[in-house]
Amino acid sequence: MQTTCTRRVEGMCKGSGASKMAKSLFASFPQRMPKKAVSFQKPNDAYGKEESNNSHRHMNMQGQFLEFHKAFITHSNHHVNIAPFKFDVPSPDDLVSDGLRSSKMGLKANSTDLKTSRVSSSINEKNGVLSKSSTERSDSSSALMPKGRHFSRDKSNHLENDMGNTLSSDKSSVCSPSLNLKGRNDKIDESSSSSMSGGNPQSLTNSLNKMDVNVGSGLSKNVNTRVTRSKAEYKPEKWMLPDQAEDTLTQLNLAIVGHVDSGKSTLSGRLLHLLGRISQKEMHKYEKEAKLQGKGSFAYAWALDESTEERERGITMTVAVAYFDSKKYHVVVLDSPGHKDFVPNMISGAAQADAAILVVDASVGSFEASMDGGKGQTREHAQLIRSFGVDQIIVAVNKMDAVDYSNERFDFIKQQLGTFLRSCGFRDSSISWIPLSAMENQNLVAVPSNVCLLSWYHGPYLLDAVDSLQPPTRDFSKPLLMPICDVVKLSSLGQVSACGKLEAGALRSGSKVLVMPSGNVGSVRSLERNSQACTFARAGDSVAVSLQGIDGSLVMAGGVLCHPDFPVAIAKHLELKVLVLDVTTPILIGSQLEFHVHHAREAARVVRILSLLDPKTGKVTKKAPRCLSAKQTAVLEVALQGPVCVEEFSSCRALGRVFLRALGRTIAVGVVTRIIEET
Ligand code: GTP
Ligand code: MG
Repeated sequence: MQTTCTRRVEGMCKGSGASKMAKSLFASFPQRMPKKAVSFQKPNDAYGKEESNNSHRHMNMQGQFLEFHKAFITHSNHHVNIAPFKFDVPSPDDLVSDGLRSSKMGLKANSTDLKTSRVSSSINEKNGVLSKSSTERSDSSSALMPKGRHFSRDKSNHLENDMGNTLSSDKSSVCSPSLNLKGRNDKIDESSSSSMSGGNPQSLTNSLNKMDVNVGSGLSKNVNTRVTRSKAEYKPEKWMLPDQAEDTLTQLNLAIVGHVDSGKSTLSGRLLHLLGRISQKEMHKYEKEAKLQGKGSFAYAWALDESTEERERGITMTVAVAYFDSKKYHVVVLDSPGHKDFVPNMISGAAQADAAILVVDASVGSFEASMDGGKGQTREHAQLIRSFGVDQIIVAVNKMDAVDYSNERFDFIKQQLGTFLRSCGFRDSSISWIPLSAMENQNLVAVPSNVCLLSWYHGPYLLDAVDSLQPPTRDFSKPLLMPICDVVKLSSLGQVSACGKLEAGALRSGSKVLVMPSGNVGSVRSLERNSQACTFARAGDSVAVSLQGIDGSLVMAGGVLCHPDFPVAIAKHLELKVLVLDVTTPILIGSQLEFHVHHAREAARVVRILSLLDPKTGKVTKKAPRCLSAKQTAVLEVALQGPVCVEEFSSCRALGRVFLRALGRTIAVGVVTRIIEET
């Protein structure tokens, strides 16, 4: 049996003070005030959850989708029985690899050594159950970006709303909050940049504008004279490599993704409860409080959805983080929001996933709604997860109780979704299909007791499937790279901590680190991992790094900690290879987009479309096309409003994988094939 970790986070959250991510991850940090979450308007939001009106809601969604399609799509196949998918391009990663092999675009890329690595994201500890990160800022999640040099959130929201309204009548004003800390002990005196960033994709522009780069920052010097030493010259020290004799569980970052309302938080809460991470007493409290608010069925979800707004609305808005130990893994659960307005949060949180549980609602109508190209997030989440490099996925077919544990329904979903997942590049052998009911505790951590389910299902239960996942690969022997998802400043003590997941390399107390984009070198004062002080951290670990010898204002979310001899590039003009998703509006030269890379976000403009590629061979099929439409693969150039820390995909996947968003949707996923101009 699995060893459940009974250590409660709240019990550990004393003392120091750190970011949202840190708080969820690192028990010694004080918890932060629950944020008043983002100003998410739309009082009559069609998605607003009310208990017991789910089917009604889904019907609304379908209705809206219908309208949408009537207006913008030539064929009208919407509704309950969805047509088989024809999204037959390979996954973005496969596509990238293919393209890198065959592209003649003069790319510098090498196709070698493409190990799995991912963008890290901020995670915050919640109660014994951990937390999410801060919602203190209100942040545009999506949208076409304004053209001005200084991207303002308000403006972008505004623009998005304007644009969005022209496309879809239900478009709510989007705020895309950050990963929010949902700490239990919601008190923090110290400032934290995460209150501004929250681990959300960050625009560095404003931060950089505020920064006096010429005064002692060394920015221009370091950036302009970046030593492009080959990483092959790097020789890791012995302590940086894992010792086979170390008796520790491998950390597995497990993203819980899927359409709104599919039961992700309920499933996560149930798992944590079953595995002893939520006490009986706490569970009673959630049940009581949820009932009082007329939302009794959300009791388990409340363990993860901690903010008032999330509970009132009945939706997750930020990524919640929790831990449990299985037989094989120390599992970091990243419970993502399903609502489309919070996809940027989902990106920031799930981008560091090693594997994912895709939760689908088996109820009649709900599964179908979740698969709708226009409104359903099942497809968008699956595509995003795959493009993060995640190739192992567990499909939790939830709410089987609502379909009487029907074998036929399960097979139908498996067939429909399986076709789509294969088209995204998931191999059949890397997909596990688990019928379950989070609400009725069927097939989660033990063989189901339901007779009907037992009569036809003889496979593994969910926790078994988690243990069957392959361990993630880590770039231990490469120079340090840690995208910063969150920064905590303890002004009273003059301390600053950067939080994030090490994508490559290792750190220990005393290590010198280059803080980008400022270009300053500081050193590691101390480290915390998994709620405890530690002496070193290696690739794959999520840590809070307390820095010394550096001005706290130069450490920012969206930046990167790296090895002083191997600085990350800082650039604003990039060549990308992208896979266009199911867009209805073509991408043109001049299109304004929102560019996401690890925890950074920046307004961008398409400056050139170089070529269309054959998705299978990566060969150029057309030069200089005028526009890009759905499912096309292309090479294009973007100019960013401000610089971001970035690497070519061939040298670091986590820092070279990008997402383009507009109108509140992810419109393309891709990779950086060339840094055209370093800042
Ligand atoms: P977002 O985070 O907003 O995307 O939603 P979610 O996927 O986390 O869903 P959540 O856990 O909040 O649950 C949504 C609703 O589905 C709640 O009313 C739950 O009680 C219900 N639900 C979750 N799991 C089950 C289940 O196994 N069976 C049934 N019948 N209902 C369930
Ligand atoms: Mg949820």
